[in-house]
Amino acid sequence: MSRTFAQRGGVGLLPALTAAMMLVVALCVPVLADDPKAGRKKAAKCQVCHGYDGIGKNPEVPHIAGESEIYLIRQLRAFRSGTRKHPQMSIIAKGLSDHDITDLAAYYGILKLTVEVPDL
Ligand code: HEC
Repeated sequence: MSRTFAQRGGVGLLPALTAAMMLVVALCVPVLADDPKAGRKKAAKCQVCHGYDGIGKNPEVPHIAGESEIYLIRQLRAFRSGTRKHPQMSIIAKGLSDHDITDLAAYYGILKLTVEVPDL
């Protein structure tokens, strides 16, 4: 007579799958925890040059409004680690935690930009 799923040890898979799912969730949490509201407050450090609107306040400063969050995170980490260097940004990024970086990227990333392409 054939054995049931449980008798074959099928149920033993459930705890293993549950544990695997919980691990996946735990790994995702830091990414999901980006907080644009916290990022807006932290942008006080950035606003002299980038503004709260993410538009560069002088010709040397790039616009970061609406920029991809992934790109912003990567650039801030690069300034912090020294793989990208700039006299001001390298110093500023040194003082940022991982959480500051993801919050700031979440804030600047959700700003909406409108672009007008001229007729050429
Ligand atoms: C004193 C002025 C100044 C301040 C303050 C400042 N930045 Fe910058 N930022 C710059 C300049 C200038 C650059 C261009 C760097 C370069 O030429 O490589 C830049 C570049 C960047 C870039 C890369 C943009 C790109 O297109 O690659 C990001 C992201 C950035 N800043 C985020 C921030 C954040 C977030 C803060 C606040 C924590 C901040 N900056 C504070 C001047 C500033």
